[in-house]
Amino acid sequence: MKRLFLYLLTLTALLWYGCSGKGAEQRAESPETDTTAILQQPETHGTEVKEVALSTPLDQAMVKKGSDIYDLKCMSCHKLTDEKLVGPGWKDVTKKRKPTWVINMITNVDMMLAEDAEAQKLLEQCLVRMPNQNITAEEARSVLEFMRKNDGEK
Ligand code: HEC
Repeated sequence: MKRLFLYLLTLTALLWYGCSGKGAEQRAESPETDTTAILQQPETHGTEVKEVALSTPLDQAMVKKGSDIYDLKCMSCHKLTDEKLVGPGWKDVTKKRKPTWVINMITNVDMMLAEDAEAQKLLEQCLVRMPNQNITAEEARSVLEFMRKNDGEK
């Protein structure tokens, strides 16, 4: 009986140590905290889409198309809040990332995971590789418009 008690005590201590250690690590390297650093980073990608022109007000036809693509191909892994599902939530993604970065992440995710430090950080956190969804650059542009709307742009 005493041995069982000791065993349980050790187990609890180990579990507690494991979880708290991991939590502290994740907090320390959370990339969300310093968005200016991200925006100033040199971009290590750009083979597909090098420039994205944004216009205001939003193009509502593109927003609609982007929303449909989201429902069909992205919703299973991405929420529109800042909550993580399989991948990160999309809230404020257009404020954290440059438009070209977002487009390349959608159209050319394998290259991004191979070469881009920010994409690799996300992979470390999510532990799942985002699959290539066979999205054209034009479709990705519509998704970006939908993300801008989700972030409160008019
Ligand atoms: C099977 C799950 C899955 C699906 C489906 C998916 N993604 Fe992802 N996505 C991820 C994961 C996981 C990441 C984090 C990077 C990684 O681990 O590969 C990510 C990252 C992203 C990012 C970067 C987010 C950030 O915070 O910087 C964008 C943008 C993105 N995905 C867009 C899309 C779009 C657009 C679609 C639909 C066309 C889509 N994803 C479909 C799993 C998915």
